[in-house]
Amino acid sequence: KKYVVAILGATGAVGQRLISELEHSQIPVAKVKLLASKRSAGKKLTFNNQEVTVEEAQPDSFTGVDLVLSSAGGSVSKKLLPEAVKRGAVCVDNTSAFRMEEDVPLVIPGVNEQQLQYHHGIIANPNCSTIQMVAALYPVYQRWGIEQIIVSTYQAVSGAGQSAWNEMLQQAQAILNKQKPTANILPTAADVKHYPLAFNLLPQIDVFEDDGYTHEEWKMIHETKKILCNDQDSPKIKVTATCVRVPVEIGHGESVYFVVEDKGASVPEIQAEIAKTSGLILQDNPQQQLYPQPLTAAGKRETFVGRIRPDQENNGAFQMWVVADNLLKGAASNTVAIAECLVRDHLVQVPNNKA
Ligand code: A2P
Repeated sequence: KKYVVAILGATGAVGQRLISELEHSQIPVAKVKLLASKRSAGKKLTFNNQEVTVEEAQPDSFTGVDLVLSSAGGSVSKKLLPEAVKRGAVCVDNTSAFRMEEDVPLVIPGVNEQQLQYHHGIIANPNCSTIQMVAALYPVYQRWGIEQIIVSTYQAVSGAGQSAWNEMLQQAQAILNKQKPTANILPTAADVKHYPLAFNLLPQIDVFEDDGYTHEEWKMIHETKKILCNDQDSPKIKVTATCVRVPVEIGHGESVYFVVEDKGASVPEIQAEIAKTSGLILQDNPQQQLYPQPLTAAGKRETFVGRIRPDQENNGAFQMWVVADNLLKGAASNTVAIAECLVRDHLVQVPNNKA
């Protein structure tokens, strides 16, 4: 069977990579539909060297579509994906719109793809920072168990979308020209105040919750638990996070502190587990100054791990540094990998009783 695939948000930073990841995937594509806002209707993009005209996304755009890959923002997903499911399409959603809903699998292939069989038409791709952290910790979790995670993120601007990315480059240019940078987008479009990111750090990603955490931090905490502690038998993990936007174009960095259950773990054994896990690349050699960096991770599908070291004062606790391309591993590659699993396991259909 060949599949009709729609990419919702095809003109965006992630959308463009959804197109190229789909081109390189195992998915047999009969036809691709590229959907975006009204502003982009009529724009020409290419898929497999063929010109495709971008259409305005509307409920009827999904008639005859088998599979939707979506990254057009949470409100667009909320509005359009139920319409797509009604028309028989299975949707892999890169936004946070449905992630925590009980009947929506939240999936990282290689970690919990068995959850896909329970889908009701919508599958959620986790938050970019959650994906790379959980992917890197998963071999440790499987062998020794994990009691606690304390993470601080260093997140690239591209995660906030193409317009935030463009604005940061303009700010950098302005500052180099000794002009005052203007800021209208970050930390979040909905906020009253905006701050420049160029030559700066913003310890706010997404809106603030009542408890003082940002919603991005909330996502890392609760998505990690949903992915790793989904069934009642799995032990609970304590998770806390600080998320910071940094003036990097592509590639999120994460300082991850974790406490294992089985205190027998050692650094060489953790390194060995990570090195042999598909999708993870160990870059850990202080003598040679080898460690993951955003500039070297950008454009790659893998998650890079280094700086693994013990907390000398807390037995069973370790630190590591994790970097991945947030637009690929954190978004487009994971989304397309989910779609590949759905195709492989014959799950590209909305279950009758669930639509
Ligand atoms: P457009 O380019 O027409 O605005 P990014 O994450 O880089 O900001 O990209 C967001 C993506 O979501 C773009 O492809 C954008 O299309 C698309 N988008 C934004 N609003 C809508 C909407 N109301 N309906 C469909 N697509 C939308």
